[in-house]
Amino acid sequence: MKEKILSQIITECPWRDTLYWYDALDSTNTKAKELAKNGAPHGTTIIAGQQIGGRGRMGRTFVSPTGGMYLSVILRPNCSPDAIMHLTCAAAVAACQAVESVCGIQANIKWTNDLVFQKKKLGGILTELGFGNDGTVTYAVIGIGINCNQKKDDFPAEIQRIVTSVSEITGTPCSPAMLAAACVEELYRMDAILLSEKNAIIDSYRRHCITLGKEIQIISGEDCRYGKALSVNENGGLLVAFADGTIQTVTSGEVSVRGMYGYL
Ligand code: BTN
Repeated sequence: MKEKILSQIITECPWRDTLYWYDALDSTNTKAKELAKNGAPHGTTIIAGQQIGGRGRMGRTFVSPTGGMYLSVILRPNCSPDAIMHLTCAAAVAACQAVESVCGIQANIKWTNDLVFQKKKLGGILTELGFGNDGTVTYAVIGIGINCNQKKDDFPAEIQRIVTSVSEITGTPCSPAMLAAACVEELYRMDAILLSEKNAIIDSYRRHCITLGKEIQIISGEDCRYGKALSVNENGGLLVAFADGTIQTVTSGEVSVRGMYGYL
């Protein structure tokens, strides 16, 4: 499988030299963090055929059976966390571009980190950071999971209604190897412009973000507030007009966003 993935990645991409394939892992993000703590270089890439303990945002499980694409990349930005607040947004755009180039479908983004197609979840992004004593980001792990060939039965009953996969959408099988290769290339391109073209990245994110303009629920623990999603700021924060008339920016660390009547 590793050879198949490498054969699809442009030879100019140096990340090819530090790409690791596993048939199964607990979580590619967990593995990447372990490698990052042990000095793995910028661009180290971990890809797995399935995850036993796939993780999502806010401690959720990311169901990761065979048939999906599960990948994590280590970056060494050596900058302040403020400089890369838009990293999850940048990775989400890269993932949409990879899906479009390999599968010919236009995935969108539900703020902040869900890949969606026609109101169903197609995948997700999980970004995790490590810090030095001086507060600089010593590593960032970007994890991308995309449902490629799963059928409804591959998911627990309670999420079957809200998930989809590329093969379910297109009616043809989708190669996880091709998609992984495209994700590596898109993340490599994204990394090259991450700090220099922040505005262009966020503009692209806004174009993909289906949350904008929608009436939403903003859930924080037990607390649920209602509002309208107005815009995404330069750091990836969501500008919300709340029902009480106030306008506030919510950041992804704090809240979960749902549509007024369900997932979207
Ligand atoms: C979410 O839905 O909240 C984010 C899901 C992110 C899943 C990917 S799959 C590869 C990487 N490894 C993980 O354990 N999670 C991310």
